[in-house]
Amino acid sequence: MKIGIDKIGFYTPHMYVETEDLAIARNIEPGKFTIGIGQEKIAVPPITQDAVSLAANAALEILTDEDRDAIDYVIFATESGIDHSKAASIYIHQLLGLNRNTRSIEVKQACYSATAGIQMAKGHIALNPESKALVLGADISRYGLQTSGEVTQGAGAVAIVMSADPKIMTVESPSAYQTEDVMDFWRPLYSDTAFVQGKYSVDKYIGFFQDLFTEYTKKTGIGLSDLEAILFHLPYTKMGLKALKSILEDVNEADKTRLLANFDISKKYNATVGNIYTGSLYLSLLSLLERNTTIEPGERVGLFSYGSGAVGEFFTGILQPNYRKSLFKEQHEQMLTNRTVLTVAEYEAQFNDTLPVGVENIDLPTEKDPATICFAGIKDHMRQYVRKNK
Ligand code: CAA
Repeated sequence: MKIGIDKIGFYTPHMYVETEDLAIARNIEPGKFTIGIGQEKIAVPPITQDAVSLAANAALEILTDEDRDAIDYVIFATESGIDHSKAASIYIHQLLGLNRNTRSIEVKQACYSATAGIQMAKGHIALNPESKALVLGADISRYGLQTSGEVTQGAGAVAIVMSADPKIMTVESPSAYQTEDVMDFWRPLYSDTAFVQGKYSVDKYIGFFQDLFTEYTKKTGIGLSDLEAILFHLPYTKMGLKALKSILEDVNEADKTRLLANFDISKKYNATVGNIYTGSLYLSLLSLLERNTTIEPGERVGLFSYGSGAVGEFFTGILQPNYRKSLFKEQHEQMLTNRTVLTVAEYEAQFNDTLPVGVENIDLPTEKDPATICFAGIKDHMRQYVRKNK
């Protein structure tokens, strides 16, 4: 049975800051951010967007009534969770009006968890071929003002419907995966910004990619010449490029040219949104699918998923007949071009506009946020969401 991605939605907040402006404000040569790091824009979330509302907005555009009836598993992948106990997927279940007979959970393993969700959904559909699963990857990446990771912040969500006979891409078996206990990136419970050993995280990521690609080739016999593109988890776009280049040294020119050209297409959305943590690999997939003009149905792409801490996986997918017709390309392009640019001072004000710790009741200004679904505040310690009528 073919199982894989049937639909893929995406949402990012309506505000961003230019990395060039940020560089100037931080007394850094702009080329370091735009070329050395490879980021153009950083999405800036208002206080009225959190992981739940980002994911709900991403899913809203893609779900039909037929999907709502068939979805019986919601897997919410995030490392920006809003509650230690209740799964974010339950808020989504209510906001999207999903079927009562649904299993809803939240999963965590840094930026790897959406891939865990995809593989769990695949197993579920193999046992229940009529079912569909909704996999959400939503995060707000926060390193802090004037930190070395600041330029690699971002915010956004992807929503993926997994099904049998998918319209966009099958997910092939087997895959290669591995775990190693490393402290390259983490966020203790008391902190709303991440801790990172930046250079160490880059070394670990590249090492995982090389190990997993070798392991995958050993398991399947599939090599570089069988892949149209390799997609990467992209905390910042230069990181994926470094990993890709690390395996291209002794490769023939045709493979090298194709893989580098398609990498270029696959990084575009990520370069203008920033790091969305667990959704980042799938944002890169979306960028490739929506922006390429040459990749034909039947062709195979590789995907490298990495979550600090660390877990990694390399797997492949085959693009399906007419896959372009199932994309929401115009909506995504419009969303990205209609955003509002902030000055660095305005971005800093948004960054510092956080909820008071332990607040029992608060109303938030959802009228300033053009998103359909917003985080509206807290009532008796319970988070409130609003779905505006549009
Ligand atoms: N023009 C062009 N390029 C320039 C330049 C200029 N004027 N000035 C500098 N550069 C280049 C440098 O040569 C360097 O390129 P290479 O990496 O190819 O050598 C690049 O710009 C960056 O320069 P530095 O290494 O000096 O930058 P830095 O010390 O500020 O560190 C960083 C960069 C390590 C990426 C830092 O931004 C960071 O720590 N970011 C966060 C790290 C991160 O995102 N890691 C991934 C986390 S792991 C993960 O995936 C997250 C998860 O699971 C949740």
